[in-house]
Amino acid sequence: MLTEFFDISPTMDLSNVSRHMGTKLQILLPKLACSHSTPVDGIHSIDLSIAENALIGEAVLVMAKEAVAKSLTLKDLSYPAGVGGDSGLLKALAGFFNTYFKPSTSVKPEHVIATSGAGNALDALLSSICDEGDQVLVLGPCWEGFTPYLLIHANVEPIIVNAPTLEGSTQMDIVYALRDVYNTATHPERIKGVVLTNPSNPLGKCYTVDVLRKILEFCDVNEMHLISDEVYALSRLQNVNCFQPFISALSLLDDNLNANLATLAPRVHVVWSMSKDFGCSGIRLGCIISQANMAARIGSGLASYWQISSLASAVAVFMLNSPDVPNLIARNSELLGEAYTILTDGLTKLAIKYIPADYGLFLFAKVGEHCKTPKDEVEIVKGLKKIGLIVAPGQRFNCGGQEYGWVRITFSQPAKMIRTALIMIETYLGDYYMKREITNMQLL
Ligand SMILES: Cc1ncc(COP(=O)(O)O)c(C=O)c1O
Repeated sequence: MLTEFFDISPTMDLSNVSRHMGTKLQILLPKLACSHSTPVDGIHSIDLSIAENALIGEAVLVMAKEAVAKSLTLKDLSYPAGVGGDSGLLKALAGFFNTYFKPSTSVKPEHVIATSGAGNALDALLSSICDEGDQVLVLGPCWEGFTPYLLIHANVEPIIVNAPTLEGSTQMDIVYALRDVYNTATHPERIKGVVLTNPSNPLGKCYTVDVLRKILEFCDVNEMHLISDEVYALSRLQNVNCFQPFISALSLLDDNLNANLATLAPRVHVVWSMSKDFGCSGIRLGCIISQANMAARIGSGLASYWQISSLASAVAVFMLNSPDVPNLIARNSELLGEAYTILTDGLTKLAIKYIPADYGLFLFAKVGEHCKTPKDEVEIVKGLKKIGLIVAPGQRFNCGGQEYGWVRITFSQPAKMIRTALIMIETYLGDYYMKREITNMQLL
């Protein structure tokens, strides 16, 4: 973590960096400085603040070791061929999307650009479709990582769009909010696209098909790009009542859409990586699928001209082509469903409200039911951290400022860890309410 190694005090000397980097440091460093993930000294902490999947770690490790043992050749120690990914990798990725994302038009290897993770994919894509100083409408609540990835190279400003309620954020309410924000924008001509995460981080919910179509139609009418971040597409929670299964933006480009497909398709881009669905964020392997815009693809390839590691590429090709992939995905769903149930059963017993999730590695829970301000929420998160439980405060996910007290809890961890976390939450809240003599009556 950057914060552990650098003094990022506001007094940092910025005189020997460029003006643009000075500005970016000033914007981003305070956000890193208030990150709550660094453990308290001397306390053995449980970290449930990061969206990583430990449940399939061992199975993926076996596959990765097999990949190195069986498929690594001298070629993989050389410079990668071409820009935008090795042809074997692009073929494996295209096959993967055709199998799992049901695209309206079959994905060809030349529709894909490989990147070092989904973050790099966003950075490269935004650099090639936006000008510096442009803006994009990002549907909230959303992952805090959008801000740095949009800012560092592309210099694009996110405008967060929130529905009136968290529950409404994947429903038609978000479409109305999107139209309102655009219609009242000071510089609508600078707004170049809509960014959404489907399934959502932090809510673990999918957009309904009607909502996705309306958003695509909005992009069509207003000549905007749609950037659909689908990194949690296959992380479905088995045995959980799924209200809305995942539907890829790639699968909606057909005659059911009230739009001009010829002009819209070049502005539709999907981002995915192996970080979440394959539980291997360290491999740093992601991609952009942009089926009708060769210039944006080549531009994105140039924007990540350093290329991805041949070693990562070789491991990814082996894994994506493995006959074990369907079993891995099914087993992952089963394990995620079980872990989710342990967490939600525990939260229900503690009378803690949460937004039921259908996909993903985490849950949004209102641990601080009494919280009225951002300060109240930070107090809860800091208090939990002091006793050894690290969770991500809701404010990090741009909830729109209407509600405080939410935290995102990652459940894709061993059952024992989730149970210990629940005990810590119970202990902390019991103590907290006793000290402040907050009774159930006051919470109602
Ligand atoms: C919505 C979303 N997109 C992208 C990323 C980054 O993915 P990667 O590790 O592939 O860069 C994350 C990581 O948490 C995420 O939640």
